[in-house]
Amino acid sequence: MPNSMAPVLNSPQSPTREIDASQSTEALIQLRQVSKTYSNGSPALTGISLSVNKGDFLFITGPSGSGKSTLLKLLYGAERPSDGEVLIDRENPARLKGNKLAFLRRRIGVVFQDYKLIPRRTVAENISFVLWAQGYSRGEIQRRLQPALKMVGLVHKADCFPEELSGGEQQRVSIARAIVGTPPILLADEPTGNLDPDNSWQVIKILKKLNQIGITVLVTTHDENLIRMANHPVVQIRGGRLYRER
Ligand SMILES: Nc1ncnc2c1ncn2[C@@H]1O[C@H](COP(=O)(O)OP(=O)(O)OP(=O)(O)O)[C@@H](O)[C@H]1O
Ligand SMILES: [Mg+2]
Repeated sequence: MPNSMAPVLNSPQSPTREIDASQSTEALIQLRQVSKTYSNGSPALTGISLSVNKGDFLFITGPSGSGKSTLLKLLYGAERPSDGEVLIDRENPARLKGNKLAFLRRRIGVVFQDYKLIPRRTVAENISFVLWAQGYSRGEIQRRLQPALKMVGLVHKADCFPEELSGGEQQRVSIARAIVGTPPILLADEPTGNLDPDNSWQVIKILKKLNQIGITVLVTTHDENLIRMANHPVVQIRGGRLYRER
């Protein structure tokens, strides 16, 4: 755990401690006093501060509705904070527009619980679609596709359609799709939520491998067993606030 994430505020009611106002100039991801209230008035996050350094692997836990997905959405720019500041590599997604925002988003791979694969496209097409949309050449797409397939152990399924794959395999395709553009940051929102323990562990092992090659990984999960096995730092969101667990 980097020093920048050390909590500076003790919460007497809680065995864990609230994290506050930790700032580091080296942080790849920074949240400074971030709050998010949705337009219907429901507050999701309140005054959250967090620094994540390059190369960190961080689990985010918390009860259903506590704001885990909201936190990730603020990072990849799908939602804007109502208050406070989100910085990705010192850039604020809420202040970027057009190409600059698109460029920042390319630096963040995202994996969802429900995979979000295109049904009538093969595994290879699903993974390379984003590169194709970004104007990569056929040759460059091939050069990137193979290592991505290999990383998730699906070279032999390249020409299958999503419906021909197990849930675990579909999730691995979605990880390959998230990393094929070699983003420095990978966000995974409940990536094991629909998987059995074996497949869940496979997914976490792939995320660990990606982290070992330098990708900064943030994962939300409810799965206490997985967190124990994976042995990485953990923060918890409760009542809209962020606490350090480990
Ligand atoms: N688009 C939205 N509009 C209004 N309220 C929302 C929206 N998205 C989320 N919320 C509310 O914000 C709070 C946090 O939701 P969020 O999805 O971030 O929780 P979560 O921790 O990811 O939950 P889960 O574990 O069930 O996925 C909840 O009260 C939810 O109802
Ligand atoms: Mg969620």
